[in-house]
Amino acid sequence: METRRLLVLPGDGIGPEVIGAALAVLEAVSHRRGFAYTIDEGLLGGAAIDATGDPYPPETRRKVEQHQAVLLGAVGGPKWDDRPRRPEAGLLELRQHMGVYANLRPFEVWPGLEHLSPLRTQGFRGLIVRELTGGIYFGTPRGRREVDGEWEGFDTMRYRQSEIRRLARVGFEWARRQNTPLVSIDKANVLETSRVWRETVTALGREEYPDVPLVHRYVDAAAMEMVLHPERYAVAITENLFGDILSDLAGGLVGSLGLLASLSVSGEVGSRGLYEPVHGSAPDIAGKGIANPVGAILSLAWLMGWTWADAESQALVTQAVAETIRAGELTPDLGGSLSTEAFTRRVIERLG
Ligand code: NAD
Ligand code: IPM
Ligand code: MN
Repeated sequence: METRRLLVLPGDGIGPEVIGAALAVLEAVSHRRGFAYTIDEGLLGGAAIDATGDPYPPETRRKVEQHQAVLLGAVGGPKWDDRPRRPEAGLLELRQHMGVYANLRPFEVWPGLEHLSPLRTQGFRGLIVRELTGGIYFGTPRGRREVDGEWEGFDTMRYRQSEIRRLARVGFEWARRQNTPLVSIDKANVLETSRVWRETVTALGREEYPDVPLVHRYVDAAAMEMVLHPERYAVAITENLFGDILSDLAGGLVGSLGLLASLSVSGEVGSRGLYEPVHGSAPDIAGKGIANPVGAILSLAWLMGWTWADAESQALVTQAVAETIRAGELTPDLGGSLSTEAFTRRVIERLG
């Protein structure tokens, strides 16, 4: 079998801590499943600014071009907040450079953590499909100018139909596979981009996915409904900024942001992907060794299942995480007392 290749970009804050955990799991899975792999490492974000002055340096860019699978920790922190080019800009360049326009952010209430969900439900599972390489994050013009003796900041939100269509297809496909309705979230009562979004999604649904029920929601109402009825959000598509906000809300719904993984893709299973936990660099707990590594470990699991097309390894890791959580062996964000390392050891023990 071909050797599997992986590029890791640990980044800043708790990024290197949770990536360390994910790589320990990878090492154990490779023994258990009998595959070989190689790891290359690159600089991104604040770590890259410190070393080179650039949050996404040419050296990292070259490495990204040579890899199909990229695992990222997190970037950013107070140290770099006043820089003209912040660590976050490096992350956005990376996403655009890889062309991974569909950011899938699954969330679920894990058995054993029901008490941490504000809903105290039996459990639910949802998926936010967030547009990742367009919208107000990237639109031009943007900047600041002086108007009447004061600063005015401005950003631009734009979406072309082709960008909307390719993202919506990803959502429709997941909804069809899971036999659930697709919820499309926008702000079409106010924004022109959202009106084009809604028309385009509706037409695509009619033409290509007539079997998938399509529901439209305004983003404000969706935020409320996700809290009261998360089960209605089995698969939801939305633009970049709304998806950013709603996915942190989903983290709160399931008990901790540290639980959420993501995969950013532009094709089918077997194609390239960027894998990163949904959370940030968590400066408030960085360096303490207590970060929850589940988001990073499950992002690695998705990497194995998607780019490496190895569903069995993904299932093995997901199962081990689920068992560890169900046993009540938890990090402090979930009310437990295990360190990142101790929790990771428990997961590895369950890999057999
Ligand atoms: P954050 O996600 O870093 O933290 C929010 C809260 O959640 C904090 O209280 C933190 O301690 C907690 N938390 C997050 N991940 C956790 C984990 N794995 N285990 C336990 N607790 C966890 O968001 P923030 O504080 O708003 O941002 C901090 C920095 O991270 C900023 O510079 C921001 O731009 C950056 N950021 C980066 C990414 C990324 O690299 N993908 C994502 C979000 C934020
Ligand atoms: C995320 C983060 C990033 C985003 C930031 C750090 C650029 O919040 O991945 O959710 O807004 O996309
Ligand atoms: Mn975010």
